[in-house]
Amino acid sequence: MDSAPSRMQRLSGPTVIVLALAVIGMLYTAFGAPAGHAKDDPTTEQSMAVKAGRELYLQGCSTCHGLGLQGGAGGPSLIGVGESSVIFQVESGRMPLKAGTVEAPRKKAKYTTAEIDQLAAFVGAHGGGPKLPPGKLNDGNLQQGGELFRTNCASCHNFAGAGGALSYGQYAPPLTEASARVIMGAMQSGPENMPRFSDNQLTPDEKKAVVRYVQFITKAPQPGGAALGRFGPVPEGLVMWLVGITALVGVTLWIGARA
Ligand code: HEC
Ligand code: HEC
Repeated sequence: MDSAPSRMQRLSGPTVIVLALAVIGMLYTAFGAPAGHAKDDPTTEQSMAVKAGRELYLQGCSTCHGLGLQGGAGGPSLIGVGESSVIFQVESGRMPLKAGTVEAPRKKAKYTTAEIDQLAAFVGAHGGGPKLPPGKLNDGNLQQGGELFRTNCASCHNFAGAGGALSYGQYAPPLTEASARVIMGAMQSGPENMPRFSDNQLTPDEKKAVVRYVQFITKAPQPGGAALGRFGPVPEGLVMWLVGITALVGVTLWIGARA
């Protein structure tokens, strides 16, 4: 008869507090834990990107590059090519490739930047390869970038980044459309006839200097009005001379006709 109250008494005090805490803890883990918590973990975020990239890959790329990235009749293996190669190929619209052409041409990118990063994470998870260096990609030294560009890139892409013909119907494209990521990705992955610039040849900082310089010469407004393709002072002077002489001859004729 008196056993029930005495059991209640025994439960009260520290035991109740411990039990209550345990129940609250369980409820919190079951319902209350903030959903975004797991995202703060970089490894989880990375694996989510890889998962999303896998879906995109299976839909858009696997027919040519194989279900396991091993390659096939339609395209080469992507194992070990690295993130930079994917960013270069997809952000410049070269991939996904349509018809079999000699050289995959630049097109409008088919994927958003976020999707491109997911594709890159997925391919990057299949064996190393270069990935974009951390930080801003174009905060290098402009003058150093100019020197490096003239020694390493201008022979194919022209001094103004206007592009040029290579042998056997291939061409080095103009650099006017390339984003910082595409310029960096091109140097790191060396697509087709372009050499690959390892970090020993051009350190990440030197590559950033080149990116800055390429953006400078291709995006900077043309000084002195109409663009003449930056052929330099001689043709520009020639054009000025021709225009000026024609104008002078015109004025002379006009004066002569009035006299
Ligand atoms: C119609 C077939 C086809 C499809 C679809 C396709 N590719 Fe490709 N891919 C190729 C071929 C062929 C090449 C090699 C030719 C070249 O580099 O221009 C290539 C080259 C590449 C390279 C360069 C490999 C290297 O060695 O550096 C990457 C990266 C790449 N593809 C990624 C992708 C991704 C990502 C997708 C999906 C968004 C995709 N490709 C869709 C055919 C295809
Ligand atoms: C031997 C010739 C050669 C040299 C040297 C070279 N490239 Fe290239 N580059 C190419 C070719 C060829 C392509 C086209 C590749 C393709 O379509 O897959 C290309 C493509 C590019 C692109 C992509 C342009 C776009 O938007 O579509 C960029 C950016 C680029 N190169 C930057 C550079 C930079 C920066 C350097 C110097 C560090 C350099 N290249 C050196 C031949 C060269």
